[in-house]
Amino acid sequence: MPALVDPSDPGLAVQWPLPPQQPIHPGDGEEPGASSTDRRLRLGVMASGNGSNFEALVGACRRGELAAEVVLLAVNKPGCGAVARAERLGIPIQLHDHRQAASREGLDDALAASFRAVNADLVVMAGWMRIVTQRLIDAFPDRLVNIHPSLLPSFRGVDGVGQALAAGVTLTGCTAHLVRLEVDGGPILVQAAVPVVAGEDRAALARRIQAQEHRILPLAVQLAGERLGLL
Ligand code: GAR
Repeated sequence: MPALVDPSDPGLAVQWPLPPQQPIHPGDGEEPGASSTDRRLRLGVMASGNGSNFEALVGACRRGELAAEVVLLAVNKPGCGAVARAERLGIPIQLHDHRQAASREGLDDALAASFRAVNADLVVMAGWMRIVTQRLIDAFPDRLVNIHPSLLPSFRGVDGVGQALAAGVTLTGCTAHLVRLEVDGGPILVQAAVPVVAGEDRAALARRIQAQEHRILPLAVQLAGERLGLL
């Protein structure tokens, strides 16, 4: 008998840190506001596309797995999937259409102003497909988190899933990290590894990576908040 279970089992993605067995936040499951010492992070989220990571964050907050609430969704594409999700979930939405902005800095200044106006503690780039400038990074120092579909520092930039397949790696995954000016280059918070299954196409691999993104993004937000002493 082999000592190890077949690591190519798509259900066995390696996790670091391991997901907690207990609720992260004391008081989970109690009435909202049951403890006056509870601190809930106020999260801003930026999305350009489908919005599944945005919805995963909202879900983690509402299930009490993350001591936070999503207070604003900013999108740069009107009608993107994230908008419909926010409408269904009752999360306020603001459109910051990059085509209307005079510059990348102008777009980031407007985003920063929106998130400041709602007193966001942390801002999460959940499928934000624009390069951000130092303006946004400086507005939320060590408070800007990104999710990327590869095991960084491999396969930065566009289509991390396709890059990994093209390179022929047998293990890929996803990374949640703090944002720096270097694209996909900031300090790593949490990663999950996902084995590549022989013969799998890009869409199937992307789905399994996304399932892991939905697990690690709330963990990364918690970790970022704890490191800043916000929780
Ligand atoms: C996610 O897989 C995320 O990692 C990726 O976009 C997808 C958004 O999905 N982000 C990047 O590639 C950023 N470089 P979603 O809209 O369903 O959350």
